Order: sequence, then structure tokens, then C-alpha cells
Amino acid sequence: MPSITSPLSTIIDGRAIAAQILGELTSRVGELKKRGKTPGLAFVRVGEDAASKVYVGRKEKTCAELGIVSETHVLPDSTSEKELLALISKLNCDSRLHGILVQAPLPKHISESKIYSAVLPEKDVDGFHPVNVGKLMLGDASGFRPCTPAGIVELLARSEVRTDGAEVIVLGRGNIVGKPMAAMLCQKGKNANATVTICHSATRDIKSHCLRADILIAAMGVPEFVKADMVKPSAVVIDVGVNRVDGKIVGDVDFAEVQKIAGKITPNPGGVGPMTIAMLMQNTVRAAENSGN
Ligand code: GUN
Repeated sequence: MPSITSPLSTIIDGRAIAAQILGELTSRVGELKKRGKTPGLAFVRVGEDAASKVYVGRKEKTCAELGIVSETHVLPDSTSEKELLALISKLNCDSRLHGILVQAPLPKHISESKIYSAVLPEKDVDGFHPVNVGKLMLGDASGFRPCTPAGIVELLARSEVRTDGAEVIVLGRGNIVGKPMAAMLCQKGKNANATVTICHSATRDIKSHCLRADILIAAMGVPEFVKADMVKPSAVVIDVGVNRVDGKIVGDVDFAEVQKIAGKITPNPGGVGPMTIAMLMQNTVRAAENSGN
């Protein structure tokens, strides 16, 4: 008897799709430069969070590759909220800068919502300012959308995953991924129009929700939480998790097992991460295109 092996799922290559988007942005940056405008992005990092250092480093590198000028402000953990607000005021007024990104997490004594509200909405390439959050909820495309969920929408669209009418389960209700993800996918329109359920730490019987999912998006920050018996055969599984376990990065999905069940799955790393950076570049180029300077 020949042995029967189940086919593994298709891997959604986030690196390749992000590279495609960056290629498209290169010509837009070229057009801006012809008009004498170089897109500029400021990074602000407070404290010595190891992951934040890596993320900001990758974002700086991509800026350089694309011809976006970036500057990074590194402040000590002891920085007061007032000092950080003063820096943001200065960056808001700097006409060379079209985008400002304050890397999360911030030290506990600083209110993230106060800081994100202080960035000018037109420079808020993170999409965290209340004006941009409000525009997202209203379906107003003139705002900036948060980079990770916007990257997932793009990843699904370019992988020919239909969202129209799909059952989507989002695991996690954070402001950076879970909540904006749900808002984007339930919107009426292209690459949206899904039936979305958000599950979180107080959800009863998460597994039964997961098993309904045509598209399962794991963004709750629990290492390898999603197991094979939680996934409907042929479902699309998107792993947003970045968890450090024994010095190794582990996603929210048990990739080795789930890839035997899923129809399509993102690897981790190499799935969502590169898309977050590509969307940040896209938002920054758009901010530069929109600006009067
Ligand atoms: N920390 C984790 N993800 C993000 C992000 O998309 N933007 C910022 N500013 N901080 C983050």
C-alpha cells in the first residue's frame, strides 16, 4: 500500500509580496524626487526594548533602500512624557519630515494614547491618531491605516484569498492589530466585506470560533496558541505573533502542525513582518505626496 500523505498548505510568502510593493513604491519616490521632494520619516524609540531596536533597525534599512530619508531619536527610559511631547512638537513642525513613528511599547509612565494623539494626523504614518482611527471606523480612505492590519489585507488580496462573505476570526483585541484588523475586514468594499468575530482572553470556547474560520488571524501574543485541531481544513491562517521563547522567536501558530491542515498559511518570520514595513513605507510616500512641502 502506498502511504498517503496529506498535502501541506501553500505558504504565503510575505517577503516576496512586500518586495513587490516596495518595487511599486520606488517609482513613486522617484517621481517625488523629480519634483524636488524627498520623503522624510522620523523614528522615535524610548528605552532599550530589544525587539523595538530590531524593528526600528529594519524600518531604517528599508527607508534607505527606497530613498526615504530617515532620522532616529533614541531617548532613555527615564524620559518624561513632557520631554517626549516636546520632541513630537518639534518633529511636527519640521517640514523635511512627512511621517513620525513612535515605536511601541513606551515605558509605563508614558501614556501611549497621549503620545499618539500629539502626532499631527497628516504625519501619523502609524495610523494611531484618533482622527485616523476614526476615519478607519467610518470607512474614510483619506486617513492612514495601521501598518500591520493593512499589510494583512494586502497579503490576502495578493494571495488571491477572497474576503467577501468569508468568516474571519481575529484572535486578539489590541489597538495595533486586533481591533483595526476587524474594522478593515468588516468594511463594505473591495478586499473586505467579511463576517468578523474578535476573540480575546474572556471569550468562551475559542476553539469552536476558530473552527468556523475561513480566515484565522492570530494576534494575541501567546506562543503557538493555534493548534491543528483548532483549524478548519483548507482555512487561511495568518500568524501575527512575535514571541520570544528561550531566545527564539515563535509565532502564535504551531506552524509545523497547522500547515498540514490549512489551505494557506504565513510563515513566521517571513509572513506578516515584511508587510508591516512595506505598509509603513507606503504610508510615508503617501504622506509626502499629500504634503504641501
Ligand atoms: N510596535 C509593534 N508594532 C508597532 C507598529 O506598527 N508601530 C509602532 N509605532 N510600534 C509598534
